[in-house]
Amino acid sequence: MKEQLEKSKQEALAALAAADSPAALEAVRVRFLGKKGEITAILKQMGSLSAEERPVIGQLANQIRADIEQALEDRAAVIEEQELAARLAREALDVTIPGTPVSLGHRHPMSIVLDEAKEIFIGMGFSIAEGPEVELSVYDFDRLNIPVGHTVREWQDTFYITRDESVHLRCQTSPVQVRVMEKQKPPIRIISPGRVYRKDDVDATHSPMFHQIEGLVVDKGITMGHLKGTLNALVKKLYGENTATRFRPHHFPFTEPSCEVDVQCFACGGAGCRVCKGEGWIELLGAGMVHPKVLSGCGIDPDEYSGFAFGVGLDRMTLLRYSIDDMRLLFENDMRFLRQF
Ligand code: PHE
Repeated sequence: MKEQLEKSKQEALAALAAADSPAALEAVRVRFLGKKGEITAILKQMGSLSAEERPVIGQLANQIRADIEQALEDRAAVIEEQELAARLAREALDVTIPGTPVSLGHRHPMSIVLDEAKEIFIGMGFSIAEGPEVELSVYDFDRLNIPVGHTVREWQDTFYITRDESVHLRCQTSPVQVRVMEKQKPPIRIISPGRVYRKDDVDATHSPMFHQIEGLVVDKGITMGHLKGTLNALVKKLYGENTATRFRPHHFPFTEPSCEVDVQCFACGGAGCRVCKGEGWIELLGAGMVHPKVLSGCGIDPDEYSGFAFGVGLDRMTLLRYSIDDMRLLFENDMRFLRQF
């Protein structure tokens, strides 16, 4: 029995040395020390021993049991350490590796020009108003004195949302005039920047989606002089003190009188070149004195108040500002182009 115990012990120690996981260790424990384990089985035969042998074997058995338990514990500690080391190696984090650079974008050239324009107008006491891009035809047309039958109301000019033509993508920012005047009594001084839509084919100077900044001033005694002074101030701040402007008579249904404003060509200084198509001038915006019908339609008495309005193309302002000769570049999102501003 003594040899049996010693043999079991050797086997147990060998099995432990080979065990390489907590599960394997547990299997060894069950095999030798468990209720049906080898050592337990040997001890069950103690009854067949003589009275002298029993305490000797009993002591030996306890000793062996304690040895195996100790060996189990030691082996468990080693395995735990190995597992920890392996995990640390697996999850190693090299804090000296340079991080993945986050590429920082910057403002689009149109955003830069828009921010400049906003600052100029805020400096002159204007505030910013916004209106919806999906607009009621009542606001974009009827209330702006654009009656049914007017050419801009044609399907080929306008992106209608509803079959009955009562809702469409606004083709100008002018409906914001109506929306503001409906809610606010004079004095009014606002600009309203935003996207507008027309059924134009894409080329160097056209896009079915572009941007305007609408301006509106309504107060007592507002004249064409205020209009010219305000727009000249804008142009000089944007393009330099010496930039010349030209006010040409024009027609808009919602202003009377109306004009278009040109700036002298930045490329040739007015001599005429490819950029200005030989004109010496580049058209920048439309403007005029708010039509009395538009004022009274919004509940403002045209005998008491007058006002001016203008609509400037932000895209065109940006092209002029940076001497860019193709509008498509603004919408292509080519980083090589955008990074230059
Ligand atoms: N809405 C006009 C256009 O899109 C511009 C404009 C605005 C003209 C305000 C006069 C007054 O062409």
